[in-house]
Amino acid sequence: MEYRIAVLGGDGIGPEVTAEAVRVLKVVGAKRGHSFRFTEGPIGGNAIDRFGTALPEETVRLVKQSDAVLLGAVGGPKWDDPRAATRPEAGLLALRKTMGVFANLRPVKVFPQLLGASPLKPSLLEGVDIVVVRELTGGLYFSKPKRRWQTARGRRGVDTLKYTEREIRRILQVAFALAQGRRKKVTSVDKANVLETSRLWRELANEVAGEYPDVTLEHMLVDTAAMQLVRSPARFDVLVTENMFGDILTDEAAVLAGSMGLLPSASLAAVPRPGKRAKGLYEPIHGSAPDIAGKGIANPIAAILSAALLLRYSLGLEEEASLVERAVATAIADGCRTPDIVQARERTSSTREVGELIAHLV
Ligand code: IPM
Ligand code: MN
Repeated sequence: MEYRIAVLGGDGIGPEVTAEAVRVLKVVGAKRGHSFRFTEGPIGGNAIDRFGTALPEETVRLVKQSDAVLLGAVGGPKWDDPRAATRPEAGLLALRKTMGVFANLRPVKVFPQLLGASPLKPSLLEGVDIVVVRELTGGLYFSKPKRRWQTARGRRGVDTLKYTEREIRRILQVAFALAQGRRKKVTSVDKANVLETSRLWRELANEVAGEYPDVTLEHMLVDTAAMQLVRSPARFDVLVTENMFGDILTDEAAVLAGSMGLLPSASLAAVPRPGKRAKGLYEPIHGSAPDIAGKGIANPIAAILSAALLLRYSLGLEEEASLVERAVATAIADGCRTPDIVQARERTSSTREVGELIAHLV
């Protein structure tokens, strides 16, 4: 069987880290007798430069013909003018919307050898194993009206936070379904003391919880969650939350792991069920890091772990996914470190060396 994988490297370090993920996938394919066909496509700032749009038609076509999409990162100072007609990020948001990938899974695991890479006390980090389920195609990022305009009394801007029952229900179902295969605890994060959408969210969370009697639900305000994430992160199992809250909390959660360069993500258009394949978008949670682009020092592990999630959720290759995850764990245990996670007196490896070692270990 041939699997078609669209590779959208994007900007900055995006292409470098996705190249290592592709390297690992190729070895997995060869080893296990799967044929993966990789096709590259433009997205982000480089696409704006070449096609005048951050998500060209040819990329949308490629994505439609693929079983899964592996993405690097988009953005950079070159395209940062606040008055520009379009931005690289618009391409990523349009892609998420086009694919309908409403469920963004962001696993946060702490590797025991990297406890010292985090500024937090190692004792707090032991046993941290969280999945943040971020709503990805609605909420503050997408709701209309969303615009800026001039009035007689100065400039104004508006963003809107709107959710339908259907949008909230399905993301909650993803969280509960995941929790069933884990420690059976869901923390629903909202701002119900202020926001109407959050009060609706809380009501629906209580209703959906009824469909999953084996899972415990707790509600937590987002500001409290931000504090608890660094105060006692091991208390969390599955966190589920609105698009923007999820964006913010997962950058914070990256501090637990020790580096943004370690955290993968999977974005799905359906509730994941064992044995069922679904098209998905796989990307590290980190950005394009233009300051280190082209230097060969970016950490490819987030991209490689994203490829593992691709194997699991879109190709239904659970064993292969675990193989990649174990190879990453072994590489880290063996002291393989890009500069972002290197600690005193450890040797530093390049992006490529890390990719090659993990490819060798799968
Ligand atoms: C992320 C990123 C994106 C987001 C940006 C690049 C639009 O920060 O994937 O977390 O905010 O969703
Ligand atoms: Mn983000």
